[in-house]
Amino acid sequence: MNYSKKTINDVDVKGKKVLLRCDFNVPQDKATGAITDDKRIRAALPTIRQLLDQGAAVIACSHLGKPKGEVKPNLSLKVVAERLAELLGQEVIFAADTIGPDAQAKAAALQPGQILLLENLRFDKREEKNDPEFAKALADLAGEGGVYVSDAFGTVHRAHASTAGVAAYLPAVSGLLIQKELEIMGKALDDPKRPFVAVLGGAKVSDKIAVINNLLDKANTIIIGGGMAYTFLKAQGHGIGKSLLEADRLDYANDMVVKAAEKGVTLLLPVDHLCASDFSADADCVPAEGQDIPEGLMGMDIGPKTAEIYAAAIRDAGTVVWNGPMGVFEFDKFAGGTRAMAKALAESGAVTIVGGGDSAAAVEQLGFADKMTHISTGGGASLEFLEGKELPGVACLLDK
Ligand code: 3PG
Repeated sequence: MNYSKKTINDVDVKGKKVLLRCDFNVPQDKATGAITDDKRIRAALPTIRQLLDQGAAVIACSHLGKPKGEVKPNLSLKVVAERLAELLGQEVIFAADTIGPDAQAKAAALQPGQILLLENLRFDKREEKNDPEFAKALADLAGEGGVYVSDAFGTVHRAHASTAGVAAYLPAVSGLLIQKELEIMGKALDDPKRPFVAVLGGAKVSDKIAVINNLLDKANTIIIGGGMAYTFLKAQGHGIGKSLLEADRLDYANDMVVKAAEKGVTLLLPVDHLCASDFSADADCVPAEGQDIPEGLMGMDIGPKTAEIYAAAIRDAGTVVWNGPMGVFEFDKFAGGTRAMAKALAESGAVTIVGGGDSAAAVEQLGFADKMTHISTGGGASLEFLEGKELPGVACLLDK
């Protein structure tokens, strides 16, 4: 995929209206609606500030949650407008609709140096359908001479009206966040400092098939942990007790082990485990030495020997990409493996890249976030990037 795309540094935005797609899909407190983590809003600030400083009038837009085409007051972006105003230190005008009369009037009146935020795009079902009329109406808010800037890295894997369709009607460039994500992760995949170690965890093999396939041609070492490791171990003839198993992926797991050997890629599987008799935070932690898990027990985390072996590979790496926890890190007893990986990444001199979603949450929860080279703001998006897939929200931007 070509990720050499024009950015806001390649266009003149002075006196123009810029339609800016951000990913303001932030977590909220279920009861109060308060934003519990504003990282994604902060990540958009450099682009917003540069556009405003250069004399653009910025029409920002985003989705929040999954309202599925219905107006859901608890998913209004008003709360984001308020937080953004605090962070920017200036007024953020809020439109109570997306392409309706309020948005049109406020966009028309917007002056250079001002910022408007539209209501949640997914309140209109045409957004996710990538409806051309909806995309055109969004573009029309920027008017004659308008520019489209995408900085919503977390949403570039979606071909929606605001992430892809709109680029048919306005010159389309990337913001600074997308530029940074593409540069760092692109370099890791295409020209990594070696050894290149990929740490892959998470519950399901099926979620990681395309990533493993792609990385088998790029990485020197692939480390497997988390729930998906048990399917790999079963495929190698080990007992896995009551652990998570994807029976329909056994052949695939076996193929991967064979392919890795053929390609000279070291594929590491757990050599010991921490187990429990049931899936609960209060379950007793039972160590299992060796690769087999006894009957009646389920694997919940990698064991200490495994953590040591994995950490050693990470210590010697030039580049590490991590996606997916090593165990059930939400339960403190079974967070040790994930913590050991976070610590190993933090202490290694390698370029360290953490995919969004669970691994990013783990790194933050465990207090290692500021030790990483890059933590992606995209969960699904960073995964699809690692899969080598074309991302519609990037493909639609102008080439350099
Ligand atoms: C995310 O949180 O991963 C992005 O904002 C995309 O959200 P979606 O999965 O609802 O499309």
